[in-house]
Amino acid sequence: MHAITIPEPGGPEKLVWDEVPDPVPGEGEVLVEVVASAVNRADILQRQGFYDPPPGASAYPGLECSGRIAALGPGVSGWAVGDEVCALLGGGGYAEKVAVPAGQLLPVPEGIDLVRAAALPEVVCTVWSNVFMVAQLRPGERLLVHGGSSGIGTMAIQLAKSVGAEVAVTAGTKEKLDFCAELGADVLINYREQDFVAEIERATGGSGADVILDNMGAKYLDRNVQALAANGRLAIIGMQGGAKGELNIGALLGKRAAISATSLRARPLGEKAAIVAAVREHVWPLLATGQVRPVVDRELPMPEAAEAHRLVEASGHIGKVLLVAP
Ligand SMILES: NC(=O)c1ccc[n+]([C@@H]2O[C@H](COP(=O)([O-])OP(=O)(O)OC[C@H]3O[C@@H](n4cnc5c(N)ncnc54)[C@H](OP(=O)(O)O)[C@@H]3O)[C@@H](O)[C@H]2O)c1
Repeated sequence: MHAITIPEPGGPEKLVWDEVPDPVPGEGEVLVEVVASAVNRADILQRQGFYDPPPGASAYPGLECSGRIAALGPGVSGWAVGDEVCALLGGGGYAEKVAVPAGQLLPVPEGIDLVRAAALPEVVCTVWSNVFMVAQLRPGERLLVHGGSSGIGTMAIQLAKSVGAEVAVTAGTKEKLDFCAELGADVLINYREQDFVAEIERATGGSGADVILDNMGAKYLDRNVQALAANGRLAIIGMQGGAKGELNIGALLGKRAAISATSLRARPLGEKAAIVAAVREHVWPLLATGQVRPVVDRELPMPEAAEAHRLVEASGHIGKVLLVAP
């Protein structure tokens, strides 16, 4: 088969579409013939040499895919050759075939095209596990989503609105904020021109955000704690603004607030399978009714992954950028 390989770390030009051995599905795994994959920030870090795949994962980039089951490994039940699926991966999505633990497979949701289904697993599992399983967002509460027009952000807005939460977002351009409003966002904050702490205070009559989904890490730590409501929950999923920050414990304590930080890729298989099962139960019905949809900026041929990485690094996209296998 062919896959995008990274012979040495560096810029997008280091991504090489090359012939490689086919993966063999092990115990409890299936072989998926990939139809599409999607670009995630983590793939860019992996290409640059800053984010090695976890032990046992494929060396090729790609944290999600859609496709058809081509073979079942030993001990797999409940799936059949030919089934159309999408899957959460530890790596290896930028390839014509990938071996996937059966617990990380999802059926293609009703009404969703097989290619576009590749836009779902990583964002749905990340948002569901952080905003709902950990931070326990409830109807009527207020969620602040940083990077509202990102792949993650576009899914967080839709899922939070579907449970009756109020949603505020930050983004860097008017066009991106307008798109977030179309998805249902109630409060729009241009982080280049406005102070999000002041804007959240204004929008909530001084009470703050109950939950914050944060991609920035250190750079926003202090201001995120300021923007939290009493009993608020800050869920950190990214470090685009650095990994080490100073925490005002007094401010956190005074609000009886909590901070969580998780990475989906590094979780044990059992935890990933539990998240996938929860997503199938709670989010798949919303996709089938059209209440929630994948947001796709564009589809590019998989061998042109370098072009897709340039686009995402320049933040020239809204939602997901897909890579379609030849
Ligand atoms: N922990 C996990 O398990 C996990 C899983 C998946 C993703 N993530 C993380 O989630 C984040 C989003 O991922 P993605 O794949 O959806 O990435 P993406 O589409 O590339 O989005 C990155 C976003 O960051 C925003 N941004 C940049 N500077 C900002 C600032 N100062 N304030 C607010 N937003 C800012 C960009 O907004 P503008 O374009 O408007 O500047 C853009 O929307 C990334 O940090 C990624 O690493 C974590």
